[in-house]
Amino acid sequence: MPQNTLAPAGEVARDILSLFRLIFWMAVVVFVVVQGLLVYAIFRFRRKPGDTAMPAQVHGNTPLEVAWTIAPAVILAVIAVPTIGTIGKLAEPPDGKPVVQVSVTGHQWWWEFQLPELGVLTANELHIPVGSRVNATLKSADIIHSFWVPRLSGKSDLFPGSRTTSRWFDADQPGEYQGQCAEFCGASHAHMKFRVIAQTQADFDAWVRAQKAPAATPTGRAADGAALFTNPSKLCYTCHTIDGTTAQGKVGPNLTHFASRGTLAAGLFERTDENIATWLRDPLAVKPGSKMPNLGLSDTDIQTLVTYLQALK
Ligand code: CUA
Repeated sequence: MPQNTLAPAGEVARDILSLFRLIFWMAVVVFVVVQGLLVYAIFRFRRKPGDTAMPAQVHGNTPLEVAWTIAPAVILAVIAVPTIGTIGKLAEPPDGKPVVQVSVTGHQWWWEFQLPELGVLTANELHIPVGSRVNATLKSADIIHSFWVPRLSGKSDLFPGSRTTSRWFDADQPGEYQGQCAEFCGASHAHMKFRVIAQTQADFDAWVRAQKAPAATPTGRAADGAALFTNPSKLCYTCHTIDGTTAQGKVGPNLTHFASRGTLAAGLFERTDENIATWLRDPLAVKPGSKMPNLGLSDTDIQTLVTYLQALK
């Protein structure tokens, strides 16, 4: 399902759409009235054959001026009342449903999602339970980004430094909802995607349990991959964390449960062996400006690392 604010799948997105509809239709009425009067005036008062005298010169028309002052004021008031009401409602999650806290950190060019109360840290795929409200606190690790899930929520900017922003949203139905960075943030801004995966409470609880479990113990070729990952000549471990190993880098996404995610490279690709290999071979070729360098890995190293990464369920 494409990103579409006109197909809301949660309360916040619906509230925003109903404001949009109100303003849209009022704008349509204003457009038709103004353009209608314009077209009328053009034809009614055009110069006709035989017109020689100057048209009547008028100055000021009190009733008209009063009317076109009051009409916009009324229109703006009609827009302002529900707008202010909605802004107030969206400021913090209303009572009545459980709330899941999520900390979102924007990075060039990927998303970090932490569920602090549940002890979960993941990247680019945010799982949420249907029936709860998500209360997100947002910040950036580098420059300004913007969090946007068109079918679930409006946009919130993420700022570097100590300033955080927040927003809440929810999903009506289990499903996958595409998100996208909505603030230009450099070469791979367009590739800074993510997914919100809404699940039933039972599925969500199972996901949380799996995320909290220790990383899978690699065997066979995957064990060779684990050794490569933390080998000083390969450098993977300097940027990525895999819990329970010496890989504790914080620059890139945490890969402890990499293979539980459906995608890689900030939602750019499906997580297939082939796509992971393409990524490892030359990240910059597929994601311009990527902070992950070309590590000059041999095809054998790549296949070994793919096996390991795909074992990190
Ligand atoms: Cu991050 Cu655009």
